[in-house]
Order: sequence, then C-alpha cells, then structure tokens
Amino acid sequence: MRIPMIAGNWKMNTTATEAERLVLEMLERLDRIEGVEKVLCPPFVSLVAISMMLQNSSIQLGAQNMYFEAKGAYTGEISPLMLSELCEFVILGHSERRWYFGETDEIVNKKVGAALTNKLKPILCVGERLEENEAGKTDEVVNRQVRAGLKDIEPVREFVIAYEPVWAIGTGKAASGKQAAVTIEFIRDVVGKLWNRSTAQDLRILYGGSVTSANIVEFLSRPEIDGALVGGASLKAEEFVGIVEKTAEIKKRAK
Ligand code: PGA
Repeated sequence: MRIPMIAGNWKMNTTATEAERLVLEMLERLDRIEGVEKVLCPPFVSLVAISMMLQNSSIQLGAQNMYFEAKGAYTGEISPLMLSELCEFVILGHSERRWYFGETDEIVNKKVGAALTNKLKPILCVGERLEENEAGKTDEVVNRQVRAGLKDIEPVREFVIAYEPVWAIGTGKAASGKQAAVTIEFIRDVVGKLWNRSTAQDLRILYGGSVTSANIVEFLSRPEIDGALVGGASLKAEEFVGIVEKTAEIKKRAK
C-alpha cells in the first residue's frame, strides 16, 4: 500500500517573512493529519528557517531545484550536499525549469543521480505541452522524459514521479481524473519495464496541474494516483490543509 503524498511547490513566491507566516498558519492542522506524507517546498532562502520550524513535526521539507555537483566554482548554484542537511525531498525537472531555464533531459538525469547519492528523494516531474497533447503525443513525451530521467539509475523505492501536463500548470484547467490516471498508469508501466515491476508498484506517482481542494477528490479517488504536487493552491493555508485533509479521508476510505 503506497502512502499518499501531497507536496506544496511554492515556486518563486513568499519572502522569508511571508514564508514563515504561511507555515505558522498551517503547521498545527497539517501536523495532525495522519496517513498522508506532507511536504512543503519553499524557496531556497527559507529552507533553513522552515526546517527549524518543522522539527518535531510530521511535515517534511523539499527544495524546488538544485545543481548536480556537490561543491565548487558554480556561482549562484545550490548543491545536493547543502540540501541534504535541510531537506528530505527535491523537485527535479519541473516544466518551468525545462522551458524557462533550458534544462534538458540529460541535465535532469544528472540531477536525479546526484540527489540520490546525497540521500535526497527526487520528485521527478514529467509532462507534455499543449501541442504535444493535441497531437496525441502524451505517451511518447512522458516515455522519453521518464527513460531519460532514470537513465543509469538503479531501482529505488524512495522515488516520486509527478505527472504534470504543462497545459494544466497554473492555468486553472486541470486534466480530468481519468486522463491523469491513464497517463500515470502508463508511467508506472514504463518504470516497470525499465526497473522492475515490484519497484514500480511501490513508487508514488502524483498528479500536478491546477489542483485545488475542490478537484482533489477527482484525482485521489483513482487508485492509480498517489497524491498531488500543488502549486498555486499551496500558497493558501486553508486550501492546502483542505487538500491534505481530503486526501487523508479518501485514501482511508479506499483501504
Ligand atoms: P499549479 O502548479 O498547481 O499552480 O498548477 C503545479 C506545479 O507546477 O507543480
């Protein structure tokens, strides 16, 4: 039985002060919810403060990106070694990194390897763009991204994949539960062929793209979908706690 997971990707939002306030607003309620892994991914500059706030809580911390070298002359970059003292998770290959910052499949693959070497659990993001979706190329794109992302990586159960169709991110136009479930099942199959079926069955595969407390049930009531990577709605305490509470209810009922 896979433990459902809800991760909040704050993206480039919240100053350090705002970030601490947001954590304070949700900490107690979020901490009490059982049966769901809860992960907050604030900006780098807030990781130290928030890691202290989350000590002795059931909430885990993630980063939104990292470089693949452990240290050295890479001005402005943050290394997996640095993150390993603060976080459990790291989001890798988010479509905003791929499309705005030119991250290729090869770079993402190096980051995946470096994260695992440093005991960070990757949340590897994959997903097709609108043109690719309309051309019926969803499977082709996610197949390529998953295979490239996992190239030369040994099977590991502590690994999370997020299926995030680019056209659904920040647009208010989420995929349907069915669409997401079909692609997530396909991704699990790809991982099964690449690694092995048993590891693939244990991986959490999340949906991401315009998830709210109003539509989370549509996704999480599907057994294929193990949780969500939430952007915009993770910046509102009430919304994010609502998403996690509903996830706990649905998955408890499904047991
Ligand atoms: P969104 O973002 O929930 O704002 O659509 C999701 C993501 O990019 O992870």
